[in-house]
Amino acid sequence: MEMNDYTAEFQHGDCLEILRDFPAGKFDLIFTSPPYADSRLKTYGGIKPDEYVGWFLKRAEEFHRVLSDMGSFVLNIKEKVVNGERHTYVLELILALRQQGWLWTEEYIWHKKNCHPGKWPNRFRDAWERCLHFTKRKDFKMFQEEVMVPMGNWHKNRLRRLGENDVIRLDSKVGSGFGKNIANWLGRDKAYPSNVIHLATECGNKNHSASFPLALPEWFIKLFTREGDWVLDPFVGSGTTCEAAARLARHSVGIDIVREYVDLARSHASQYSGMRLLDKTATYGKTKRKRANGIH
Ligand SMILES: C[S@@+](CC[C@H](N)C(=O)[O-])C[C@H]1O[C@@H](n2cnc3c(N)ncnc32)[C@H](O)[C@@H]1O
Repeated sequence: MEMNDYTAEFQHGDCLEILRDFPAGKFDLIFTSPPYADSRLKTYGGIKPDEYVGWFLKRAEEFHRVLSDMGSFVLNIKEKVVNGERHTYVLELILALRQQGWLWTEEYIWHKKNCHPGKWPNRFRDAWERCLHFTKRKDFKMFQEEVMVPMGNWHKNRLRRLGENDVIRLDSKVGSGFGKNIANWLGRDKAYPSNVIHLATECGNKNHSASFPLALPEWFIKLFTREGDWVLDPFVGSGTTCEAAARLARHSVGIDIVREYVDLARSHASQYSGMRLLDKTATYGKTKRKRANGIH
């Protein structure tokens, strides 16, 4: 695909309303980190933890409509602490999304390698976030070879000492029902990764208080889409998802309720030469523009 064959489109407003103008099944991947309950009141408002599920479900209905049948929806989220204990809104959200028709296919963990040290009386520092993977069907698109990792030294040592048990499929000694045939890995230098993704956080130069590292959307975009596919981030913030999509030659749409972030996201994506940047806010009808500015 030629570099100028793909677009990044940014829209300003509530994704609930903006998405109504998009056709059903347009996107191959929705990758997003939504506003966390209450946590950023000063920057872009917040939703009360007890109201979070209802707020999210209305938007998820639109996500379900605009996602293709073989597509994936990956939600980066972490529950906050309220009155000294973890709030249950993420757990409730997972159950509610299943009721809405989503399959909760997998839970990936983003391990934040460089999270801030600190001391809390009843817990340790928060070093991970969920990346919940939802699909519409069991036979969704997945390109596992795209995210394979080097085998490392483990396999060299282990394979040198192959025993009799290793060349046949060995049933687990603890009776877990899992078996393995280590000899299958002879001669290979890459393995499939686990569902824990180890990445440093990175938000210093993004001018957004909650950006995730570029490598996070990149990993999921490679895993669930091909070049030329369409990626949506309905809570785009500084535009990291669209930037990752551009680097990987995917089309993208980013939506944010804060005008400043839409501009920021567009400026980040504009670094990629040859990409067509669309700003649909310029073509809004009057009503939509009013809504986007919070006037009803
Ligand atoms: C956690 S941040 C996303 C950060 C982003 N992943 C990045 O790397 O910069 C959530 C974003 O959602 C936006 N937002 C909040 N409510 C929204 C809504 N109803 N529709 C669209 N965007 C919204 C906020 O302005 C904020 O930028």
